[in-house]
Amino acid sequence: MNDPRLDALRQAVPGLHLKTDPADLEHYGRDWTRRWTPAPLAIALPGSSDEVQAIVRWANAQRVALVPSGGRTGLSGGAVAAHGELVVGLERMNRVLAFDAVDRTLTVQPGIALQAVHEAAAAQGLLYPVDFGARGSCSIGGNVATNAGGIRVIRYGNTREWIAGLKLVTGGGELLDLNRGLVKNSSGYDLRHLAIGAEGTLGIVVEATLKLTDPPPPAQTMLLALPSFEVLMRVFAEFRARLRLQAFEFLTDRGLRHVLAHGAGNPFDDVHPYYVVAEFDAADEAQQAAGLAAFEACMEQGWILDGAIAQSQAQAQQLWRLREGITEAVARYRPYKNDVAVRISAMPAFLAEAQALLGEAYPRFEVVWFGHIGDGNLHINVLQPDDVADEAFMAQCGRVTELLADLLRRHGGSISAEHGIGLVKKPYLDSTRSTAEIAVMRGIRGVLDPNGVMNPGKLFD
Ligand code: FAD
Ligand code: MLT
Ligand code: ZN
Repeated sequence: MNDPRLDALRQAVPGLHLKTDPADLEHYGRDWTRRWTPAPLAIALPGSSDEVQAIVRWANAQRVALVPSGGRTGLSGGAVAAHGELVVGLERMNRVLAFDAVDRTLTVQPGIALQAVHEAAAAQGLLYPVDFGARGSCSIGGNVATNAGGIRVIRYGNTREWIAGLKLVTGGGELLDLNRGLVKNSSGYDLRHLAIGAEGTLGIVVEATLKLTDPPPPAQTMLLALPSFEVLMRVFAEFRARLRLQAFEFLTDRGLRHVLAHGAGNPFDDVHPYYVVAEFDAADEAQQAAGLAAFEACMEQGWILDGAIAQSQAQAQQLWRLREGITEAVARYRPYKNDVAVRISAMPAFLAEAQALLGEAYPRFEVVWFGHIGDGNLHINVLQPDDVADEAFMAQCGRVTELLADLLRRHGGSISAEHGIGLVKKPYLDSTRSTAEIAVMRGIRGVLDPNGVMNPGKLFD
């Protein structure tokens, strides 16, 4: 393509990998939302922090918008490039740079896949605990930019808890070396935490130093079938009081049906309204017995309709597939995804109202609930029927999300627990953040990205 801006880029960054084929523009211009038509100017695949810095400086000089891009598994449109932006794909910067046994940290480039980080940590006998279904294709840079959560938050917290240091090329083109792996550092504003969850609007993460920890003890994995949400919260309270949980995830019959249709196996003869995948420490006989006792106590109360206890790692994986397979199983319906959070204590009241609201609001659309109930985080996926046009579907989802946002406002919740605001939730940011907070965020963006080149149109305008 003969665009003078790209000629200038080639001059500014000699040897830069640039792609302009239509198939590449299409591939790199979208994420898992698949709702916007990709239309980037080009794709740059830098190989070093210096190249990233040179790209950002070029973008400032040319006033070209940049979209940082990891694995494009994002679910809120943060990595979408639909307006002539330059996509900055970090996939070539995918190496482990250092392991420090004393600090127990792993320093990596941003394009490394989450699963490769797990493997690098395991090779040292340690654990990087952030984990979720997209582990094989999402990148650490994307995890940092969305403050990704996942199935182990109940035990270990979000990505934010595991970042000991970050290198960030700001929108203004400065390279900041933030926190440098320090455990303690009370020297003013912790700018590292601004970059975490910023969705690429403040700069590009070019390096991350990750904290590692001891692997958890061997676990027991159970699948529980339950009659209602109300009972689900009671079982959660019982299990949390008695056991050291590693995960407590839920799905409904609808989610299960989709996963089964996608090839998973049902361990039960019947289909029940609600399911939980619970995992807890079971290192010795006492812990195993405690697990069984918690299960039996809930059975005696009539809370558990059926249960399956994995007898092997392979069986545990089969149970996990029922929960982790939902995203892929429903992907063909291009679901409108809600990713809401309330405090765990507010969950029962919120759930009752949300169920009533959504039951009425979507009489024609299938709604699939699942998620991280132990973190107060629900995924509510609205599936698009084949015979409903995009515009009508999105208009209806927009109207209902307004109502859901009001409900969240009243319950002090968040419109995005872990996926980020991106494009999908931008209209509802003010349900979670006050006008004053958004004004401060705008100010920060203006300081770190004075010419507005970093992912414009995402998070807020
Ligand atoms: P991308 O989609 O490429 O980008 C996401 C955002 O990060 C964009 O705004 C992008 O501009 C920005 N970005 C990317 N790299 C950088 C960088 N180096 N510097 C600055 N900004 C950058 N998410 C969860 O939190 N929990 C889950 O349980 C979960 N499960 C999932 C399961 C499946 C099957 C799928 C498909 C997705 C799931 N997700 C989940 C969502 C997604 O995987 C996460 O949001 C992930 O963190 C995105 O990483 P990515 O590399 O794909 O980022
Ligand atoms: C999950 O918990 O499985 C994810 O966040 C993905 C999704 O919401 O689809
Ligand atoms: Zn999730």
